[in-house]
Amino acid sequence: MVELRIANIGLLATPEGSSARRGAGQDKIRLVKNAVIGVTKGKIVYAGDGENAPAGIAEYDAGGRLATPGLVDAHTHLVFGGFRQHELEYKLAGMAYLDILRSGGGILSTVEATRAATRDALYNKSAAFLDAMLAHGTTTAEIKSGYGLNLETELKQLAVINDLQKKYSVVPTFMGAHAVPKEYAGNPDAYVDYIIEAMLPTVAEGGLAKYCDIFCEKSVFDIAQSRKILEAARGHGLQLKIHADEIEPMGGAGLAAEMGAVSAEHLLQASDTDLSAMAQAGTIAVLLPATSFYLDKNYARARAMVEKSIPVAVASDFNPGSSPSYNMQFVLNLACLKLKLSPAEALTAATLNAAAAIGCADTKGSLEAGKDADIVLWDCPDINFLFYRYGNNQVHKVFKEGALI
Ligand code: NIG
Ligand code: FE
Repeated sequence: MVELRIANIGLLATPEGSSARRGAGQDKIRLVKNAVIGVTKGKIVYAGDGENAPAGIAEYDAGGRLATPGLVDAHTHLVFGGFRQHELEYKLAGMAYLDILRSGGGILSTVEATRAATRDALYNKSAAFLDAMLAHGTTTAEIKSGYGLNLETELKQLAVINDLQKKYSVVPTFMGAHAVPKEYAGNPDAYVDYIIEAMLPTVAEGGLAKYCDIFCEKSVFDIAQSRKILEAARGHGLQLKIHADEIEPMGGAGLAAEMGAVSAEHLLQASDTDLSAMAQAGTIAVLLPATSFYLDKNYARARAMVEKSIPVAVASDFNPGSSPSYNMQFVLNLACLKLKLSPAEALTAATLNAAAAIGCADTKGSLEAGKDADIVLWDCPDINFLFYRYGNNQVHKVFKEGALI
């Protein structure tokens, strides 16, 4: 007898396992028609055909709909002050993303707004985003700091993320190396030292972050500066991520492999040699096609990555500059249409592989006995339908750890 029986699921679609799927394995998902999911104490205890399903104390009728694991957004910057709608006009006038940053706008304008915001205001704004994300099927998210760029505000952002953790399923990443703040303009090496001497020890001692990420990019942080910060972070017990080879080819993907980073993100310009190194090292590629869309750039070479046996995840990159949307359904449309992932590969990318990229594939990312009951019922008959419609919210209902949202 289970506490809750979610019955009359027309089609259950899920990857399987507790680690990232790669190569041909990324395309292999489990499909069960007329399925039932049994839930007790927030965990899945049964996921399979209706005939062999246990009885339940309570029953929810899924009405023949599609069920998938809750979506996992493995890369967001969702704690920020203000918005940057004024940049739309710069974009339309042809100004490039990095030029806006170089002129003191971009990330640096969000830094000013985030420094000025109170912790409460940041919490309320971020919680509202996470509620909206839940309504769009995202049940777990990674969140990066990086709009403080001084100790006080980086700690404020991380405190907000840690507060959010009490109510939401979120994973904190420290990204003090997101840009060089105006106080250190023209002197990035001094800022790198400040990160290493003042920020990292405090973040690590406070247990405020699980990962350390860095924007390895032309006129932001070069390879040597990135390596220095990541080595220090690793020394403090943080796991590593890199914004790598997004706009200019820098070799960040190779650095991720060399440093044993859990993931490398963006990767639009990653070289074949560096992708091979990632495959060898088991580095997860976190691809952000909504950012390519919004910056009007090329899309990462996802097919080459799958062929090289790199586990591929996708995420929203939700932030006020390069990706002002948290909608993972749109990311999945792009994963199929632009990254050329199959619907099954895309589902794996936004669930199990995304969970692996943020260290929670043991509890999230698939509909299997033992995992958290994070389940989305979609107004769709199958995953092709889910990924071919776009622009409308196709969520019917979301269960988070067994509770109907
Ligand atoms: O992943 N690339 C750097 N960071 C973000 C953009 C942040 C911003 O523009 O505010 C990204 O795209
Ligand atoms: Fe990002």
